[in-house]
Amino acid sequence: MPIRFYEEEKLFKLDTPGSTAVLQIYDEGYLLGLYYGAPIPDMHFDNFTFRDYFASFCPRNENLRDRFFSPDVFPIEYSGFGTGDFRPAAVAIRNADGNDCTDFRYESYVIRPGKPKLEGLPATYVTDERDAETLEITMLDRTTGAAAILSYTVFETESVIARSVRIENRSERPMDIEKVSSVSLNLPDADYDFIHLWGRWAAERNLQRTPLRHGQQSVSSVRGSSSHFHNPFAALARRGADEDHGEVYGVNLVYSGNFDITVDVDSYETLRLNAGIAPAGFLWHLLPGESFQTPEAVTVFTTDGLGEMSRIFHRLYLHNLIRGRYKTERRPVLINAWEGCFFDFDDEKMVSFAARAAEMGFEMLVMDDGWFGHRDGDDSSLGDWFVYKDKIRGGLGPMIERIRALGLKFGIWFEPEMISPDSKLYQAHPDWCLRVPGRPNSIARNQYVLDMTREDVRDNIFEQMRKILSENDIAYVKWDFNRNLTEAGSACLPAERGEEIFHRFVLGTYSLLERLLAEFPDLLIEGCSGGGGRFDPGMLYYTPQIWTSDNTDPIERLAIQFGTSLCYPASAMGAHVAKCPRTGYETKGNIALWGTFGCELDPNTLTEEEKTIIRGQVADYHRFYDLLHYGDLYRVTTPFENAFRCAWEMVSPDKREMLFTNVTMRFSHNRKYIVRFKGLNPALTYRLEETGEEFSGAFLMNAGLNLGCYPFGDGESFRLYFTADR
Ligand code: DGJ
Repeated sequence: MPIRFYEEEKLFKLDTPGSTAVLQIYDEGYLLGLYYGAPIPDMHFDNFTFRDYFASFCPRNENLRDRFFSPDVFPIEYSGFGTGDFRPAAVAIRNADGNDCTDFRYESYVIRPGKPKLEGLPATYVTDERDAETLEITMLDRTTGAAAILSYTVFETESVIARSVRIENRSERPMDIEKVSSVSLNLPDADYDFIHLWGRWAAERNLQRTPLRHGQQSVSSVRGSSSHFHNPFAALARRGADEDHGEVYGVNLVYSGNFDITVDVDSYETLRLNAGIAPAGFLWHLLPGESFQTPEAVTVFTTDGLGEMSRIFHRLYLHNLIRGRYKTERRPVLINAWEGCFFDFDDEKMVSFAARAAEMGFEMLVMDDGWFGHRDGDDSSLGDWFVYKDKIRGGLGPMIERIRALGLKFGIWFEPEMISPDSKLYQAHPDWCLRVPGRPNSIARNQYVLDMTREDVRDNIFEQMRKILSENDIAYVKWDFNRNLTEAGSACLPAERGEEIFHRFVLGTYSLLERLLAEFPDLLIEGCSGGGGRFDPGMLYYTPQIWTSDNTDPIERLAIQFGTSLCYPASAMGAHVAKCPRTGYETKGNIALWGTFGCELDPNTLTEEEKTIIRGQVADYHRFYDLLHYGDLYRVTTPFENAFRCAWEMVSPDKREMLFTNVTMRFSHNRKYIVRFKGLNPALTYRLEETGEEFSGAFLMNAGLNLGCYPFGDGESFRLYFTADR
């Protein structure tokens, strides 16, 4: 049993294969987060305190015999605002008396097999109840009647605890939730570095690592989506911890909207990390009897460095987050037309793309933006999801039939949450976009945002999409989202619910995705937001792959893919070979093979030689599919640390196969390049396919190979494939 309650000590102990968490019910019902870290088999938690420094400025609870207890000193597991703990509160609820003092105390607990669903929200899951266990602790604010049900799921096979919180109004009066974290972690010291992924359009998910300091460090988004700018992920790494060694905590929110992850180091070097929906622009009105469910936070702990943290996230997302047919079934290798023609295409051009693509072994053609309404640029027609007859002259059905006859499946682009002012939908329903009274709407990429909180709006978009998808043979949808939310108001929300809009918007998007997948369970949806502006576990639950970035320059892609790999598996990273001339096609293919692999260009412009190379890469995609999609990633040399070259490995779960890829970003005269490989079985003998040489796993990992003889010019790359039969 991974979760146990020790009656006498009043301790909950949560054991994963690589971590232990301990919670204690203290006097007066305070719930303490005593420990989260490397596994501890015994129970000597009696004298465990974070610090016993206590001053008159630390408020006390007079009912407590322990005169050294202060909520400001002890590790309060889910700390409320304004009642004695001055560190950043996990939760703040404004009550009907007009104050936001919040103080949750222990009431009861239940331990259940498996993992309950989170109503209306994406979350990790198990298909067999024996694979996880869930602890739910009910906390009550006895003054206001607010309840907080803290949920912790422990997975049998991974060092993961999935956490979330449900707030219930058990009083007779309304209340307003001002802040509600999905997770609050307390650690007794602050000797960690803060790692997060920052970025911008075309340069998503750069890794930044800085030592923690007194005060707060945070990453957040108030853009209405998780955003290009910060990912809803953060890690705390022990000073000196690296790719392969050292303690690391990782936190990732299964959420696609406004978020905040704040780490606070107080004046006694104790640390608190809160993660959840961003409090800015959030106020949730909760009537008597109503409840509010937070998004899920996935927490990972390992003593084996950032690499192992990533592999734990990857395995969890592959097995317990991604759903549907393409969780296990091979995805068709696709060519996307966008960078090959942008808006300038017609049905003949699409068929010609498909014909050339078929010659190279592609299995699906994706027609991107511009096939609907009268869309010739980015300034019209979003919301008008009917075929643009001047472009697709014979109609969608006949064009798809011709593409199918060439042996390819067909995929199509939508941007369901948006509306162009120049559209029939806007003419008919100008009130269907987000807006606030008295202010003009900001425009971005010539478009407004649809009010996804409204059922009638969602119904309309659903029906339009259903018509296209049910009347045509369509296997794939690219779901785009090309601006952020401003003037976020809904004509249908009363004033006291005005600040619920951002979260309701995300819930609306999730419900549309859920409805679409219920109707078309075999549909493969690829998420996208101007590249990787909504690359998060929330979207991954619905869309097993996400377009990683609009930047298809292979060298710039490297940092983007390395950063993305911090928590997202290779099978999630949309990665395409494109025209950008910075490297040859071999290198473009090697980089795209780290992700979903595909092409994004006009195949009519390729030379015979280029086509031959790409044909080989498509074959490699099939050959290495399982290794690349379900293997374990080892980052060997990262572009965040080395300006010249970078390298990564994919290792099969049984460690009998390993594919090593190296890319030279910039030539260096230093040809000495010794690589000590990672993640192999020291006792196995590995054969290097390229030369036929044999090495023990121990040799490859401990002595390594000098790879200075392989291509090392600007933009050159090579792969080494090792297999072990004995
Ligand atoms: C942004 C996406 O990231 C691109 O791949 C492409 O689909 C365009 N939108 C189309 O407008």
